[in-house]
Amino acid sequence: MAVKLLWYLTLPDGPVPWEPEGRWNTGFDHLRQLAATIDRLGYYGALIATGFGHNEILTVASATLSATQRIKFLAAIHPGLLTPAKLAQIALTFDNFSGGRLALNAINGNDATSAAFGVHYGHDERYDFSLEYWQAFKESYLGQKNGYDGKYIKLAPNPNLSNGSRRGVAGGGGLQPVQTNGVPLWGAGTSPAGVAHSVRILDTYLSFADTPERLGAKFRNVAAEAAKIGRTLTFGTRLQIIVRETEGEAWEYAQWLVDRTSVEYAIESIKRQLPQGETFESYRSDNPQVQKNLETIRAGRLPKAKDYEIYPNIWTGPALHGFNVLAPLAGTTLVGSAENIAARIREFEAQGTSAFILSGWPLIDEAHRVAELLFPLLDIDHGFEVPLLNPERRHLPDRRERAVR
Ligand SMILES: Cc1cc2nc3c(=O)[nH]c(=O)nc-3n(C[C@H](O)[C@H](O)[C@H](O)COP(=O)(O)O)c2cc1C
Repeated sequence: MAVKLLWYLTLPDGPVPWEPEGRWNTGFDHLRQLAATIDRLGYYGALIATGFGHNEILTVASATLSATQRIKFLAAIHPGLLTPAKLAQIALTFDNFSGGRLALNAINGNDATSAAFGVHYGHDERYDFSLEYWQAFKESYLGQKNGYDGKYIKLAPNPNLSNGSRRGVAGGGGLQPVQTNGVPLWGAGTSPAGVAHSVRILDTYLSFADTPERLGAKFRNVAAEAAKIGRTLTFGTRLQIIVRETEGEAWEYAQWLVDRTSVEYAIESIKRQLPQGETFESYRSDNPQVQKNLETIRAGRLPKAKDYEIYPNIWTGPALHGFNVLAPLAGTTLVGSAENIAARIREFEAQGTSAFILSGWPLIDEAHRVAELLFPLLDIDHGFEVPLLNPERRHLPDRRERAVR
């Protein structure tokens, strides 16, 4: 089976972007250049995540589209901030302009952020609302005629689509859906309500990474829930990556990052991961490796890079999305030679993961490095025919020649 490799398309960038001294002052030109790089190197797509810098996601996708020809834009969407019919109109427009290259990452949100945007449902009710939202979105994208009459979502029948004619979609002026099965929906959700919701609406279920076996167990559980309602999902994960020619160089680079990370960043990240009722001073972990790291940090020092390796080549050291000292989460990183990392990706794949949303910093440099070192070792689903660097060498087995640069 082939894997899909996606890269990160967001603004924070630099060699150590979680520390003020390691972050660049980036802007739109940089984002366009990044989008063009991801596209030319042959990644399947680019994830546009919410949360940093607060750039509006669909604006980022639209503004960078013209720098690309092939990649899919996986755009994070909080349900409810636009009506489902309006989102369908935007999706139809984007798909018509891009040849069907939109995918959406359905974000569940949290109480504080949702409320700040004017959506006031509590945790479980948010999922009930979201289910109707995504159903209504799918129907609108595909050209619903009869409206939608749910508890939360009410769409009037579309006057432009009466009597079987298809003259317009939700005011979209006759736009036809380019993706005939609808826009692929990706998303996450670990709580029971989150899993129940995911299996009903998602095409690709995402989770932050863990060891291959533990991630595989989580995915098998979700797959079993989906099977109960006759659905099949694909599975993806999110990892940072430090790939180098040799394993030694990769760990040296990991140590270089640790040396540029403050103890304060570690403490902040630990506090965010603590179970309710625990404090940084009081918490004790049953895991001796975690407990030892905690004690070193409490003494005002950071442990060495290798001390955060929880499984061969899987690292919970510092990252933009957190320094997951207590347990792997959004900041989990693959560290090693291309051969090490290819082996680990195959192990994840054997446990059911087929999509990998990767990032390394600086984003453009590391996108090149991953394409150069790792792509040739993997069976990759690019989602399109990758142009050959040198068509004369088509018959040669060296897959490095397939880089688009
Ligand atoms: C790959 C991946 C990407 C995510 N991207 C975003 C994002 O852009 N914005 C956001 O608010 N949450 C994002 N999330 C968080 C999820 O929406 C969800 O809140 C998180 O997985 C915690 O929910 P859970 O504990 O039910 O899994 C992402 C999660 C994953 C696994």
